[in-house]
Amino acid sequence: MNQLILSHLPGDIPWQVQWFDTIDSTNNKLKELAVQGAPHGTVVAAGHQTGGRGRMGRSFHSPEGMGLYLSVLLRPDCAASELMHLTCGTAVSTCNAVEKTAGIRPGIKWINDLVVGNKKLGGILTELSVYPDGGNVAYAVIGIGINCCQDVCDFPADLRDMAASLKTVTGKQHQIPMLAAAVITELYQLSLDILTKKDTIMAQYRKDCITLGQDVVILRGEKKQYGKAVDIDGDGCLTVQLREGSFVQVSSGEVSVRGMYGYV
Ligand code: BTN
Repeated sequence: MNQLILSHLPGDIPWQVQWFDTIDSTNNKLKELAVQGAPHGTVVAAGHQTGGRGRMGRSFHSPEGMGLYLSVLLRPDCAASELMHLTCGTAVSTCNAVEKTAGIRPGIKWINDLVVGNKKLGGILTELSVYPDGGNVAYAVIGIGINCCQDVCDFPADLRDMAASLKTVTGKQHQIPMLAAAVITELYQLSLDILTKKDTIMAQYRKDCITLGQDVVILRGEKKQYGKAVDIDGDGCLTVQLREGSFVQVSSGEVSVRGMYGYV
């Protein structure tokens, strides 16, 4: 599989790809490798994850041979505060890769879900490690999961109404190695642009984000607030105008945002 991915990668991308048939989580593995000193641009991809993770402690269903499960290690020389838009940038790059290989451009449900037709196609999990002195980034792991080959009946019953795959959306089978290579290529470009092209990246994010302009519910633990999503700032924070008129800024770490009538 590694060779297949490499055969679709442009030769000038100096990144190393490690393939695992089965793993608990590509993000977990890459964090282990990062601690052991793995270099910027190390990529871990797997055919199956037994413990695929999403935001806020959720799991990411990762059955064998059905999806792309891939993580990339970045070691940018900057403060964590300069990378607040990394999840947004990764989402845009992943949309680019899906569009180039499958011919459809997913939307982005704030902040990290890729959606097509109101259903979740995939997601991004970004994890940063910061040096204790001064807040500089030691490493960032960006993990991408995309449902590729599932038919509707392949999703567990509780996900069926809200999950999509490239196959359910396009009616065609898509090649995971080709998609992996496209994602790696886009992430390589992102790694070059992330600190210098923030405005361009976030302008594209706002175009792709389907949450903007929607009525939303902000979920903070048990607390719910109702309003309309009106803006996204340069760090990816969502501005919501509450029903009573005031504005709140929502950052990704603390809350989930749902549409008024379901997942999207
Ligand atoms: C989410 O749904 O909130 C994000 C899902 C991210 C899943 C990917 S799959 C590859 C990488 N490894 C993980 O454990 N998670 C990410």
